[in-house]
Amino acid sequence: MSEPPTQAPCTIVTGSSRGIGRAIATGLAKDGHRLVLAARDAARLDELAEELRASGCEATTVAVDLRTPDAVAQLLAAAQQAYGAPDIIVSNAGTAPSDKIENTTAEMMQEAFDLHVAVPLAFARQTAAAMKTRRSGCLLHLASSAGLRGYPFTSAYTAAKHGMVGLTRALHLELSPKGLQVYAVCPGFVDTDITRTAAEAIAKKGKTSAADALRLMGAQNNIGRMHTSDEVADAVCMLLRERPTGCIYDLDREPASFCN
Ligand SMILES: NC(=O)c1ccc[n+]([C@@H]2O[C@H](COP(=O)([O-])OP(=O)(O)OC[C@H]3O[C@@H](n4cnc5c(N)ncnc54)[C@H](OP(=O)(O)O)[C@@H]3O)[C@@H](O)[C@H]2O)c1
Repeated sequence: MSEPPTQAPCTIVTGSSRGIGRAIATGLAKDGHRLVLAARDAARLDELAEELRASGCEATTVAVDLRTPDAVAQLLAAAQQAYGAPDIIVSNAGTAPSDKIENTTAEMMQEAFDLHVAVPLAFARQTAAAMKTRRSGCLLHLASSAGLRGYPFTSAYTAAKHGMVGLTRALHLELSPKGLQVYAVCPGFVDTDITRTAAEAIAKKGKTSAADALRLMGAQNNIGRMHTSDEVADAVCMLLRERPTGCIYDLDREPASFCN
């Protein structure tokens, strides 16, 4: 294990307007991080920031579409201006396109690779030099069990999440000798807007109800049920607090553990 930072870390959390990202930001606020909250929905971000500030946390927001050119640079500049050089990047923002392969468009593929691979890679590229100089910093990627095994009807998402896990492994080997930690956290299905929207789409096809579709998703997890956003956030907070040696953290196993 390496030493955690001694002063309140400056931490960027992408996709923190709702779902897992919002739960992560709430957990990190309790752990004393100074937060830069990012997503497209300015109103939801501002509401969360106000809530966190009311509980004594420092938080600022950046409403940005991460797929636009220079979004990562814009976010890093905003963090620098608010709190100084970012110590931790949590790359969580994502979408989960789902359809049979014949209907999987180039745009679905591009969006999946932009958000799950290109954005975390851009964060690494633009922060590694400064983090190496300080011999301190952490890049954490919200991956998925879809980065470790295949699922039908999710070819673009599964391919992109495998890319995210591969990126994490490569960065871990390159940067851990320089004192940095690089993690991917891999939950199975989690009860959020992503899974609820998918369940409603399945229900619209008339074969099952949305509630049954959600139950079936949970049953596909090795743990036999859906994860909650709070469980994922707890794992992220633990990794950022304790900085254990390891790289790919599989939440969909009992007990959750590294599967490098
Ligand atoms: N739910 C699951 O079953 C599950 C399982 C394993 C892994 N994951 C991963 O966990 C992460 C979070 O998922 P979630 O379930 O919490 O989904 P969610 O509730 O739909 O939240 C997704 C977040 O990403 C943000 N986002 C999406 N596209 C964006 C863009 N172009 N630019 C900036 N922000 C963007 C959204 O904010 P705005 O809409 O405001 O931009 C939102 O805050 C994703 O990477 C997902 O792949 C989810």
